[in-house]
Amino acid sequence: MKNSPIIALDFASSEDVYQFLSPFEQSLFVKVGMELYLQEGPSIVYKLKEMGHDVFLDLKLHDIPNTVGQAMKGLARLGADLVNVHAAGGKEMMIAAKEGLEAGTAAGKKRPSIIAVTQLTSTSEQQMQKEQLIHKTIEESVIHYANLAKSARLDGVVCSVLEAKKIAEVCGNEFLRVTPGIRLAEGDAHDQVRVATPVNARKLGSSHIVVGRAITKAENPVQAYENILKMWEEHA
Ligand code: C5P
Repeated sequence: MKNSPIIALDFASSEDVYQFLSPFEQSLFVKVGMELYLQEGPSIVYKLKEMGHDVFLDLKLHDIPNTVGQAMKGLARLGADLVNVHAAGGKEMMIAAKEGLEAGTAAGKKRPSIIAVTQLTSTSEQQMQKEQLIHKTIEESVIHYANLAKSARLDGVVCSVLEAKKIAEVCGNEFLRVTPGIRLAEGDAHDQVRVATPVNARKLGSSHIVVGRAITKAENPVQAYENILKMWEEHA
């Protein structure tokens, strides 16, 4: 799996994706989320893999263990490099998800890595306390979910940059810390709350960053990507 910034392909159709990708010359690490997957289905994943890109299939599964396990068995066949579930689905669900992936991975192929979403980067501490009735700090909640994911033997978590270092300390450096909510200093936070720049993400212990609108909505997406890649690589 590459370590370059993961570009969130939050587009509504494959035509928009191909148009967006056409000026890029290198192979990328891209993220297919529910907006795109629910329109295009498995073919978009096959196509991106054929084009030589690494794919994070960000469907954030959250259901009863049997359903998630069976869904992951099917997803394993698509060839994505990274998939995810919501840690809030519980340890048993996460174990079933990984078992499903293992069962669905063809002999001789690599099992996709699997990570758990802790608290969404669009969630504030106040909102978490009021709406989820979790009377803890957001960091405590995120660390708790990271430990739960680790105990289910997942490969890592999705978290904000602000919790990445602590998770590396508690769960080990091998445990992935994939962090969305990346903004250039002067950029707009949009709907994200817990945000950071690519430089801070690197300094604060992200293993991978996910960048959507700062690239996809830029006037020159290739240039924006190159700038972010440079910031990310220079501070390694
Ligand atoms: O445009 P922006 O950079 O905010 O996009 C972030 C991407 O990361 C979106 O595709 C969003 O669904 C995803 N994501 C997130 N927070 C998480 C998990 C995934 O923002 N916890």
